[in-house]
Amino acid sequence: MSSAPIPAHVAIIMDGNGRWAKQRGLPRIEGHRRGVETVRTVIKAGRELGIRYITLYAFSVENWKRPQDEVGALMGLLEYFLKRELANLVKDKVRLLTIGRIHEMPDNVRILLQNAVEATAAFSDLTLVLALNYGSRTEIVDAARAYAKAVAAGEVKLNDTSWESFSRHLYTAHIPDPDLVIRTSGEMRISNFLLMQAAYAEFVFTPVFWPDFTKTDLADAVATFAKRERRFGQTSDQLKSAPTR
Ligand code: IPE
Ligand code: IPE
Ligand code: MG
Repeated sequence: MSSAPIPAHVAIIMDGNGRWAKQRGLPRIEGHRRGVETVRTVIKAGRELGIRYITLYAFSVENWKRPQDEVGALMGLLEYFLKRELANLVKDKVRLLTIGRIHEMPDNVRILLQNAVEATAAFSDLTLVLALNYGSRTEIVDAARAYAKAVAAGEVKLNDTSWESFSRHLYTAHIPDPDLVIRTSGEMRISNFLLMQAAYAEFVFTPVFWPDFTKTDLADAVATFAKRERRFGQTSDQLKSAPTR
């Protein structure tokens, strides 16, 4: 049996839907449609690999700047995914969480999300986190505001300067930091995704466009992760004797 470490939390920047479609002379939305199928594949593969948390960057705060018909189509696909997948999430005991400014999402999507989050709240084998209307910069603004409120209410002391105390106000308060961040489509940038939470994550970039991403690609990324030595600022020797984080 292999003892290679499985990342507890894999966060994925699902990129390349548009280019996948363009390569085939199809409209961009066709790439997004195929991308939804990849989401199903990855949830199943993630469960089989024993991953505990999968975060998917599905819509960024910046993505509102795309043409209106593409934004509308993405919202429509999200609605379709939530309607179709809820029964499967319940059957497979997958808990759904969201991060991002969900209150700014269209009402129908917001309600579907809320229902799915409530219906799956009791599960704990695999947690699927959808990053929607998400951006790290808006997250830090929202966290700073929540922190200031907590200080004003006397719940937090102003001279408490620990990350532990502050990070409780991030959207990810109850979600462990990602161990592995994967970005598809060959782009090597983070695009405002989990900037703080990925402080010590390992990164794997693959040229594969998201609609073509397979179970094998996920397993390969996990295998690459297993070969990396994570040091968290310490020396190799220290980690061998008494690893601390
Ligand atoms: C990712 O694919 C999906 C979203 C960002 C919503 P893109 O739509 O960014 O595809 P490319 O990068 O244009 O190929
Ligand atoms: C990042 O992809 C956002 C999502 C995957 C939802 P983008 O395609 O929007 O990012 P950029 O524009 O290439 O940085
Ligand atoms: Mg893109």
